[in-house]
Amino acid sequence: MDALLALDQGTSSSRALVFDRSGRLLAVAQRELTQYFPQPGWVEHDAAQIWADQLACAREAVAKAGVKPTSIGITNQRETVVLWDRQTGEPLHRALVWQDRRTAAFCDALKQQGLEPRIRELTGLVIDPYFSATKLRWLLDYLPGARQRAERGELAFGTVDSWLLWQLTGGAVHATDVTNASRTLLFDIHRGDWSGELLDLFGIPRALLPEVRPSAGVFGKAVEFGIPIAGIAGDQQAALFGQAALQPGQAKNTYGTGCFLLMHTGARAHPSTQGLITTRAAQVGGDAQFALEGSVFVGGAVVQWLRDGLRAIGGSGEVQALAESVPDAGGLMFVPAFAGLGAPYWRPDARGALLGLTRGTTQAHIARAALESIAFQSAAVLTAMNADVGAAERLTELRVDGGASANDLLMQFQADLLGIPVLRPQVIETTALGAALLAGIGAGLYASAGEIGAIWQLDRAFEPRMSRDEAAARLAAWDHAVRQVLAG
Ligand code: G3P
Repeated sequence: MDALLALDQGTSSSRALVFDRSGRLLAVAQRELTQYFPQPGWVEHDAAQIWADQLACAREAVAKAGVKPTSIGITNQRETVVLWDRQTGEPLHRALVWQDRRTAAFCDALKQQGLEPRIRELTGLVIDPYFSATKLRWLLDYLPGARQRAERGELAFGTVDSWLLWQLTGGAVHATDVTNASRTLLFDIHRGDWSGELLDLFGIPRALLPEVRPSAGVFGKAVEFGIPIAGIAGDQQAALFGQAALQPGQAKNTYGTGCFLLMHTGARAHPSTQGLITTRAAQVGGDAQFALEGSVFVGGAVVQWLRDGLRAIGGSGEVQALAESVPDAGGLMFVPAFAGLGAPYWRPDARGALLGLTRGTTQAHIARAALESIAFQSAAVLTAMNADVGAAERLTELRVDGGASANDLLMQFQADLLGIPVLRPQVIETTALGAALLAGIGAGLYASAGEIGAIWQLDRAFEPRMSRDEAAARLAAWDHAVRQVLAG
């Protein structure tokens, strides 16, 4: 039997999944990833743990599946910065995670110098600590001797895909794919290459950088497994691919640690005037593909906070029952700006708020408002996207995936707010599936990307039930709450 192994290295966990060639899930293994918060607004991961967990999960999933996979696909939390020694393979510092805000002041300074339009033109991104470049620069400044060593070619930078690829190949391959490169603020998305202008601007030595390749194709051989790594994509682009959203106008929203709404725009790099970003979509073959993206920093993470911070629930699975134990959120609005606000607001300084507390407020109301906040943030992104693409290309349906898309209450509320059907596929492990399919294409298992369209199967369509007037009133209340948060 042909099987594909996907390594899905996310913000909250490291996972390995084995699929058969029809996209059926055969086995999964998972480890939760330790989060480090050394200072308010700082978020770090241990890159050595990431590799160790990922390897352990891969071994476990392959053993459970009982088949030898044909090839490996890697998909990963994007933007997170790993810096390591090429000689020893040791990380020089904990990985700086995409949610980390430590470079906010530097980003402000760049904006004040009027650099944003040019950076946006080259990269499709805004200036925000979210993206890799300012974090990499921080490490080079902070670690004694690091810049000189980087210039001598002794160090390697990578997003998590590169780090895993390097480890899997025993240090033989230092590469990344276009989707991950497009999140660094160093990559010219139009030319498809690192930008000398941006490397100079951020003070990043070129010798640090991985080679950039299309998302499907053989990157190298995984020493332990004796099979090729044949697909790589950042997790959100992998999910777009796994949702078979390969045509301009098709879109998906992934409910993971954050929420990421991406619309495929084909060969066109669609610029945004509404606070979205333009990014590379997964590339199969020689032609560049693009997407418009709205990145929400705290989505499912709000449920984690209910569990670990507030201790309102024992496990994430309990949130729906708690939220459903009350008919509504009792007027409570929860703006979970734990890591600032991403699209379409881009305010790294914003912090979370619960508005509308009364003596009648219970944990159930907070849980409900927390779930609703996930849908409100996604709705704000979709509104921006519709405004960007114009009336003729407005979204008419939304494909959903990720852990929290299993939550029926949330999906119904999402459809109610958006006023369009929300389509949940049978496989909500779409991120991993996308990576597996890219690896299948890269290894020659599928003849073309088109072949994977047949793999997508609907589980349930959530049709909007709320009146448009009520939805508009709810969205206005959300906007009001966000404005209060932004006003400080
Ligand atoms: O851009 C950050 C994103 O890639 C993280 O995804 O699934 O870990 O929330 P996730």
